[in-house]
Amino acid sequence: MQDAISASPALSEPPIDAFKGAMRRFASGVGIITAGHGDNRRGLTATAISSVTMDPPTILVCVNKNGEAHHAIEQDGAFCVNILASEGEGVAMDFAGQTGRAGADKFTPFSWSILATGAPALDGALANIDCEIAERVETASHTVFFGRVLDVRLSDGAPLVHFDRKFIKLEN
Ligand SMILES: Cc1cc2nc3c(=O)[nH]c(=O)nc-3n(C[C@H](O)[C@H](O)[C@H](O)COP(=O)(O)O)c2cc1C
Repeated sequence: MQDAISASPALSEPPIDAFKGAMRRFASGVGIITAGHGDNRRGLTATAISSVTMDPPTILVCVNKNGEAHHAIEQDGAFCVNILASEGEGVAMDFAGQTGRAGADKFTPFSWSILATGAPALDGALANIDCEIAERVETASHTVFFGRVLDVRLSDGAPLVHFDRKFIKLEN
């Protein structure tokens, strides 16, 4: 990690590198966002995930418009957020496109269930949060999808964490 990147004193350029440095310092859980059916299933690894409101239960995810999963989410009007357990680094790498798997082939090594919307729910995830799209906001390269939560499945265990571009297994 680099220590001393600063945006100041000249703020004429957007502080992109400093912002990247700041976000590398933000430890987060890791999710797999999934949508679609059969050969049309698509998914991506994501950390831009947040709860929005509890009543009604609402979550947001930020998804790059150029990714294949974006199209599947739009087409189905639904998605599932799968929160990874500590042993989920392999899933995270596959769904981030870092192992050569792409499209529906990303789903092949893993076991999946269907909850309320039909979006793929990863077996063994700490949580599957199954949503229909309630709202969307487009901003530059990404769409922020607000999902109304229709179904949740929970498991116990330790989480996978992402920090400083590395995956870290938390102990229970
Ligand atoms: C730790 C990590 C977090 C990521 N978070 C996001 C995210 O929140 N939103 C996003 O659009 N892409 C994110 N990505 C990148 C996508 O996982 C990656 O571009 C993926 O290949 C997109 O798949 P697709 O082209 O099949 O849609 C992340 C990647 C990693 C490794």
